[in-house]
Amino acid sequence: MGEALDLYARIEPLIPYQSEIEALHQRYLQKLKKHHTATLLDIGCGSGELLLRAQMAGIEGFGIDLSGEMIARAQAAGVAAAQIDLCDHDGHYEAATAVFDVLNYLDEAALTRFLGCVADRLTPGGLFLADINTLYGFKEIAQGALILENGPVHATIESHYEKGVLTSAIRLFEPDTDGLYRRHCGEIVQFYHTDERLSQLARQAGLNLLDQEGIALYGKRPDKTLLTFKRSD
Ligand SMILES: C[S@@+](CC[C@H](N)C(=O)[O-])C[C@H]1O[C@@H](n2cnc3c(N)ncnc32)[C@H](O)[C@@H]1O
Repeated sequence: MGEALDLYARIEPLIPYQSEIEALHQRYLQKLKKHHTATLLDIGCGSGELLLRAQMAGIEGFGIDLSGEMIARAQAAGVAAAQIDLCDHDGHYEAATAVFDVLNYLDEAALTRFLGCVADRLTPGGLFLADINTLYGFKEIAQGALILENGPVHATIESHYEKGVLTSAIRLFEPDTDGLYRRHCGEIVQFYHTDERLSQLARQAGLNLLDQEGIALYGKRPDKTLLTFKRSD
């Protein structure tokens, strides 16, 4: 999976969804500010954009991600970040975030482990904010094909949803130093979780649901749900 995440990191700058990502990040920032969060762990921080926005709002953040490519970009942008598994990370934070599909990368067993490690990283009363894709988001928004282009670099993403699993085949075509194109292929798999099941697993990990709201990033109906959990004291 690590190689596929790095491949995604390489094509991400080609995907024209900057305004949607910014809108999503603003929703998270509003909630963090409302709760007067001072320290933040961003899990699956990607290239560090949320952390940069949080820094500007006076929040001290740290990012972790499984992709080395993403962490290199986050560090180059001036963000404190490390390529490490959440469950191997130390430190305690007033809030943790998992933004833009991160929870959907986990099957139920991995999600259960992940939520336990989130609770371990939070101070008592700390917050966990995360989004998950709705069924509409997977079936109607994510499914289909994208063709991406930036100068000589081309990429395609073909996504197919079936029985709770969204599979995205990524292909990147880049000219090498010899002028010939090289093709890089990978597959990202995402798992559908209902809000109810996520809340139940979180509660078992000591994270109680505070609120949840639907978010319509791409259409009129919510394609994501943003959930806020509070660690029991
Ligand atoms: C779609 S990107 C979103 C990046 C960033 N959160 C944002 O809002 O732009 C998903 C990120 O999650 C990372 N990721 C996937 N599974 C992860 C896991 N189990 N732990 C940490 N990072 C993970 C990927 O490498 C990728 O950077």
